[in-house]
Amino acid sequence: MAAENKIVNRMNTGIVGLDEMLYGGIPEGNQILIAGDAGTGKTLMSFEMLYRNANINIPSTFVTLEEGRKSLLENVKGAFSYFDNIDDLVENNTISISEQTAMSAFRSKESWQTFIVGINRVLKENNSKILVVDSLAPLRPLAEDDRTFTRAINQMIENFRNLGITSIINMETSSMNLTEVSGLYGTFMFDGIIRLGTFYMEGSFQYLVTVVKMRRSNHKNSSMPFEITPKGLNVFR
Ligand SMILES: Nc1ncnc2c1ncn2[C@@H]1O[C@H](COP(=O)(O)OP(=O)(O)OP(=O)(O)O)[C@@H](O)[C@H]1O
Ligand SMILES: [Mg+2]
Repeated sequence: MAAENKIVNRMNTGIVGLDEMLYGGIPEGNQILIAGDAGTGKTLMSFEMLYRNANINIPSTFVTLEEGRKSLLENVKGAFSYFDNIDDLVENNTISISEQTAMSAFRSKESWQTFIVGINRVLKENNSKILVVDSLAPLRPLAEDDRTFTRAINQMIENFRNLGITSIINMETSSMNLTEVSGLYGTFMFDGIIRLGTFYMEGSFQYLVTVVKMRRSNHKNSSMPFEITPKGLNVFR
């Protein structure tokens, strides 16, 4: 393990096998992109990170842009049937679920600022240490072009970075290029990228996770298969 790994504090994801890939977890204050095709586990992976941390009393916020709060909760409880205290953690606000509507976000420069300030306010309410934004996809068609979108996302990420919060930002993407995200000029604003995908093996689809980059940290460079189980994600070692 590189010496630099000893000086950064890490947020354990709590996901079996993933922390090993990350040599302990995500460096605190990092801004992480989880990119992957539809249905590759972005929502479930990011929710499980919040859930595992909530169980050790680390408060967080899950901003849902793709689906309503009720539908999100039904999905995660359906997939993770062994997580029997999700409702408790949501009710006591350890995991704050914030339903945001994308529609108004790009009406003007001011409305994007208002959108960001709105998230900041929610983060403050329960002193969140981790944030999930699920996902950027509904925002993209509302921005005029890639340039406007990239600038807006960069501004949002810099705002989170200044707050010192560890963020997990999900984005749907179909590009085969590991660091390319359609609609964004670059991924320079992210400290880390986790790529989710699927491949076809022995007659069925298999989930795959790759840690593409992680600033201030060492990480495994290989892609590892994982499964989605009622007890949580399981990254094979
Ligand atoms: N109850 C369940 N048991 C097992 N697997 C499930 C269950 N519910 C969902 N899944 C699997 O989890 C995957 C979806 O995960 P998730 O919703 O996290 O993906 P996503 O990347 O967020 O997708 P999207 O791009 O649609 O938002 C699906 O492929 C589905 O097969
Ligand atoms: Mg999703």
